[in-house]
Amino acid sequence: MLTLGFESSCDETAVALVDGQGRVLASQISSQVPIHARYGGVVPELASRNHLMAMLPLLERALETAGVTLAQVDRIAVTNGPGLMGALLMGVQAAKTLALTTGKELVPIHHVEAHITAVFLADGDDSGTAPGFPYIALAVSGGHSSIYEVRAIGDYRRLGSTLDDAAGEAFDKVARLLGLPYPGGVSIDRISKTGNPKAFDFPRAMRRKDNFSFSFSGLKTAVRNQLAQLGAVDEAQRADLAASFQEAVVDSLVEKTLQAARFCGIREVVVAGGVAANSRLRSKFTAACQEQDVKLHLTAFKYCGDNAAMVAGLGLLRAPIPQDQVAGLEPFASGEIGTAFVPPDLP
Ligand code: KG4
Ligand code: ZN
Repeated sequence: MLTLGFESSCDETAVALVDGQGRVLASQISSQVPIHARYGGVVPELASRNHLMAMLPLLERALETAGVTLAQVDRIAVTNGPGLMGALLMGVQAAKTLALTTGKELVPIHHVEAHITAVFLADGDDSGTAPGFPYIALAVSGGHSSIYEVRAIGDYRRLGSTLDDAAGEAFDKVARLLGLPYPGGVSIDRISKTGNPKAFDFPRAMRRKDNFSFSFSGLKTAVRNQLAQLGAVDEAQRADLAASFQEAVVDSLVEKTLQAARFCGIREVVVAGGVAANSRLRSKFTAACQEQDVKLHLTAFKYCGDNAAMVAGLGLLRAPIPQDQVAGLEPFASGEIGTAFVPPDLP
C-alpha cells in the first residue's frame, strides 16, 4: 500500500509518500516562513496563493525522491481541516482532482489527529518504538494545546484544551513582544539557551488539580507587564524573559500531561505538534517521565512541525471515503477530534 499525503492547512505546503510499513519514502516541505516573516504572522491570502504555486512541483519532487510513479500510488490522504480555509482548499482540491481522475482511494485527515499519530511512522518516534494503546497524547501547536486519551486510532477522549491561546500562539506572541523574529517559538527556544529560567517568576495558570485545561493569556500579559516595568531591556534581560516564559509554558504542559496520565492510569505519553520541537519541553518531559516511570514517545523532531508524512501515515490507518463522496469533500476551519470530557475532582 503506497499512500500519497498532502498538507496545506497553514503556512507549510507538504507532499509525502509513505509505504505500507509506515516507511517515509519522501517528505517534501515548502515553508512559507520567509514570505510571512515581514508581516509577523501568516497572511491567509498569501498562504493560499503560495500553496497553489508550490503543490505540483512538490508532488513531482516527492515522486522523484521516492522513485515511484503516480500510477503506483494506491491511496491519497489529505488534511481537510482544521486550518485556514483558503489554504486547506489548495491541498483538498489537488487531492480530489487526483483521486477523481485516477480513481484512487481518498482519505480525509484531521490535522491534529495526524500530529498525535505521527509516532507511528517507521522513524516517527524518538523512543524507537511506537506506543501501545491506550496512550495519553499532548498536541501542542500554533492552533492547539490539548490532551487526549487515545484508546485506538479514531477513538479519542479530549481530556482538556487551552481556554485561550494555544501554546505555540503564546510563543509567537511573546516573541513579538520581545522583538524576536518570526516564527517566535524557534526564536524563544534559541535565545532561552543563554537565559536564566528562574530570573522571573511568571505564573503557571490552571494549577488546580481538578482539570486538564491550559491558559496562557495571563502569562503573556505578565511578560508584557514585566517588560513595561523594566523599560529598555538588554540582550541578557531579553534572554532571561524568554527563558522564564518558556519555563512557565513547559512546566504547565509537562505537569498537566502527567497528571492526565495518572488520572487515567496510563503509562505511555506521546508529545506532538510544532511546539514539541522545543528543546526545553523535550528535556523536561524526558526527566519527568523517567522520574515517574512513564514511557515517553517524543515525536521525531522532523515530524513535529507541519508535514505530509504524518498525513500519509494516518491515511494508511484510516478508511477511505466512498468514491461518490470524493467530489463533495470540503475543508473545515475548526473542529475537534474525540469526545469532550469534564474530569471530576482529581485526587
Ligand atoms: O504544528 P505546527 O507546525 O503548525 C500548527 O499546526 O499550528 O506548529 C507551529 C507552532 C508555531 O506557533 C511555532 O512557533 C511553534 O509551533 N514552534 C515552537 C518551536 N518550533 C515551532 N515553539 C516552541 N519551540 C520551538 N522550538
Ligand atoms: Zn500542525
